Amino acid sequence: MLKLTKSPNWARLQDLSRQHQQTHLKDLFVDDQQRFKRYSLAAQNILIDYSKNCLTEDVMEALFGLAVDMDLNGAIERMFRGAKINTTEDRAVLHTALRNRSNSPVFVDDQNVMDQINAELMRMRTFVEKVRSNEWLGYSGKRITDVVNIGIGGSNLGPKMVSEALSAYAGNNVRVHFISNVDGVEVADVLRPLNPEQVLFVIASKTFTTSETMTNAQTARNWLMASAFDERAVKNHFVAVSTNQQAVSDFGIDTDHMFTMWDWVGGRYSIWSAIGLPIALYLGFDQFEELLMGAHDMDRHFRDQPLADNAPVILALVGIWNSLLYGAQSQVILPYDQPLKSFTAYIQQADMESNGKHVDKAGNPISYQTAPVVWGQLGIDGQHAFYQLLHQGNVIVPADFIGSVESSTPVRGHHENLMANFFAQTEALMHGIDEQQVQTQLQAEGLSEQDVAKLLPHKIHEGNRPSNTLLLDRVDPRTLGALIALYEHKIFSQGVIWDICSFDQWGVELGKHLAEGILEEINGDSTNAHDASTNGLVEYFKSQRH
Ligand code: F6P
Repeated sequence: MLKLTKSPNWARLQDLSRQHQQTHLKDLFVDDQQRFKRYSLAAQNILIDYSKNCLTEDVMEALFGLAVDMDLNGAIERMFRGAKINTTEDRAVLHTALRNRSNSPVFVDDQNVMDQINAELMRMRTFVEKVRSNEWLGYSGKRITDVVNIGIGGSNLGPKMVSEALSAYAGNNVRVHFISNVDGVEVADVLRPLNPEQVLFVIASKTFTTSETMTNAQTARNWLMASAFDERAVKNHFVAVSTNQQAVSDFGIDTDHMFTMWDWVGGRYSIWSAIGLPIALYLGFDQFEELLMGAHDMDRHFRDQPLADNAPVILALVGIWNSLLYGAQSQVILPYDQPLKSFTAYIQQADMESNGKHVDKAGNPISYQTAPVVWGQLGIDGQHAFYQLLHQGNVIVPADFIGSVESSTPVRGHHENLMANFFAQTEALMHGIDEQQVQTQLQAEGLSEQDVAKLLPHKIHEGNRPSNTLLLDRVDPRTLGALIALYEHKIFSQGVIWDICSFDQWGVELGKHLAEGILEEINGDSTNAHDASTNGLVEYFKSQRH
C-alpha cells in the first residue's frame, strides 16, 4: 500500500482542488441536467444525494483512484474477516460480526466468534422477555417499570440516541432513562421521581473502571439500599454489561446477571452488543433485532458494492474532497427529524474519537487534515440559531441534511412544513442569491436607490456551500440500523485513506489520569503539583467551598 502523500491520485486531487477554486455549484447544475441522477444513489431505504458538492467526473475518478491506491477494498475485507486492524491495541474490530444476521463464521485467533455472539444475544432475549413479561420482579415483588442505564461515552450515547429515535415503537411496557454525567444533578434528577422497588439499573461499562460510571453506580446502589435495607435486593435491581467480570463481581453484581462484550468491540461501536440492552428492554427484543438487521443490510452493501456504487465510500470521499478543496475543518450534521435529536452527538463521538489522530499507523506525524469537527443539532432549530454563519459566514462548513419521507408520528400539516424547510436550506446553501437578484428584489419592494445600495452587500448569499442530503423512508428500527452503519463505514473508509488507526483513543487518557490526582488534592490538603494556573484554580475552588 502507498503512503497517502505518495499516491498519484492524491497529487491529482490537489491539482484539481486548485483548478476548482472558482467553480460555483450552481454552474455545475446549469451545465448538467442529469447531475442529480449522476450523483445520487439509494442504499437500504436511504436516498443519498451528493450532487450539491463540487464534484466532476475528473474529481470522482481521482477520488476512487485514491481509494484504490490506499487499498480500501482490502481493508474492508480485513475488517469483516476479523484481522487485527486495531494495530495499537492488537485487536480485531468486529462490530460487524455483532450484527452478522447471515451468521457466516468470523474467526478471531482461530475461534468462530459467532458462537459467543449468538449465545449472548439469546441470553439478552431471555432476560428482556422476563423483565417485559413481569417474570423478573423487584425486591418487594413489584414489576419493573423503569430501566436506568448508567454509562458514559459509547456506553450511553448509542442506547440513548436509539431509544429516543424509536420511542414510537416502544409501547407502555417500561420507561428508559440515562445517567452519564458525574455531576450529581443528573443522578438526583433522574432518580427523584422513581420508585426504587420498580427500577432496574443497567451498569454499562466495557472496562467497569470508568470513574463517572462507577461513582453513579455506587450512588444508585446507596439509593436502593435506603429503601430496601437489604443487600440481597441488588440482585433484583442491578445488571451489568462489561468485559470485566472481576470488577462486576467486586461491585456486588451477580455475574449471572452480567452480559458480556469482547475486546474487539470498541466502545463507540458497541451499540450492537449487550450495550444495546436498554434498547431491547424498552422496545422489545424483536425491534432490537430489526436494528441489527438494518446495520447488517448496510454491511452487505459496503462489502459487496463496487467503490463507485458504495454509499459509505462515496460519503467518505466527498468529505475528503471538501477538506482538500475548501480546507473545511468542520462537518455539520442536521437531522430534520425529531426522533434523531441525539444523532449528531452520537456520530460526533464515532467520528472524532475514531479519526481525530495526528500520526499515521506507523506513528509518523501527518501533514494532512484528519477528522473534521463534527457538530450540529436538529436542523429546524439550527435555522433560527447558527445557520446565519452557514449561509454568509466566511468559513465553509459542509453539511449533511437528514430527513424522512414519512414522519414516525404524523401530525397533520407538520411534516410538509418541516420538509419544505429541509429542501429549501440545501437549495439556498448551494445556489445563494447574487447581486443582480438581490437588486431586482429590493427594487421591486420599492426601496430608494440609496437604500438598495446600502442593503445590497448584506443581502447577497454567495451560495456554493456543499451539502449531502440523506432522505430516509422513515425512522424505523431497520432504517436507523442502516443509517448508523452508513456513518460507521464512512468513518472507517476515511481512516483507511488517511492511513490512521481509527480504533484506539489514547487522546482521552491524559485528562482522565490528571483528574485522578486532582481529585485527591480536592479531598486533601496540598495543591502544588501543577502549573500556576491549575494550582490557582484548584486552590480557589477549595477556598470558596462551604
Ligand atoms: O474515555 C473514552 C471512553 O473510553 C470511550 O471510548 C468509551 O466509550 C467511554 O470512555 C466509556 O468507557 P467504558 O464503557 O469502559 O466505561
